Amino acid sequence: MFFFNKKSSFLRDIIPNDYTDIHSHLLPAIDDGSKNIEDTLMLISELKKLGFCNFITTPHVMEHVWENTKTKIEENHSTTVHHLKENKIDNSFKVAAEYLLDDKFRKLFQEEKLLTLKDNYVLVEMSYIIAPLQLYNIIFDLQVAGYIPVLAHPERYNFYHNNLQEYKKLKHAGCKFQMNLLSSVGYYGTMVAKTADYLLKNNMIDFVGSDVHHRKHIDSFQKKIVLKNLDSLKETFQNNSFFK
Ligand SMILES: [Fe+2]
Repeated sequence: MFFFNKKSSFLRDIIPNDYTDIHSHLLPAIDDGSKNIEDTLMLISELKKLGFCNFITTPHVMEHVWENTKTKIEENHSTTVHHLKENKIDNSFKVAAEYLLDDKFRKLFQEEKLLTLKDNYVLVEMSYIIAPLQLYNIIFDLQVAGYIPVLAHPERYNFYHNNLQEYKKLKHAGCKFQMNLLSSVGYYGTMVAKTADYLLKNNMIDFVGSDVHHRKHIDSFQKKIVLKNLDSLKETFQNNSFFK
């Protein structure tokens, strides 16, 4: 592609065999991920072959788009776990959510307990078009409410690609960063891969996640990594064991 490192690796080959994934859309028919339980079983079986061991799946919670409540997510999760057991899939399969940072979310965390990755770590995302006007206020209030924000795929927000200073600001504001594994193979394009490389180089990535929605995502683990900072990416995998 554009900046192959000399000893380039395939993404599939750098997944540790005890990998804990903290971002995916594997619950059936609850968001734009898995379409049904058969789809869920297929996706999990394929991910297991890649070395995925523990799963924390994270359905979208997004007003007007994916109006998932805590109860709806937990009920879907418990039915899914039942199906996994029936199909002899005994991996740890927990549930959290991926919350859109907006005013509705602020209301939510002030009124009820959020679904967290572990302890008080909560996975959050922004729109890909524009950052919320109240971004830093929401992040501040979230922390006042006792949570640690884990920002999903920071490298995918195009509006920051020419404003890299903003990443430092987000880190200073208390955000942890979760990079998408598929950014490393150029799945989302050149600028996203370059930004992921920049964040890795500057030790700003705290965790990784697959963000798998469908089969095409899994197939892309067969691609070569196009980043320069491969060692840094490999080291970051170890941080995910915190969520085991
Ligand atoms: Fe996601």
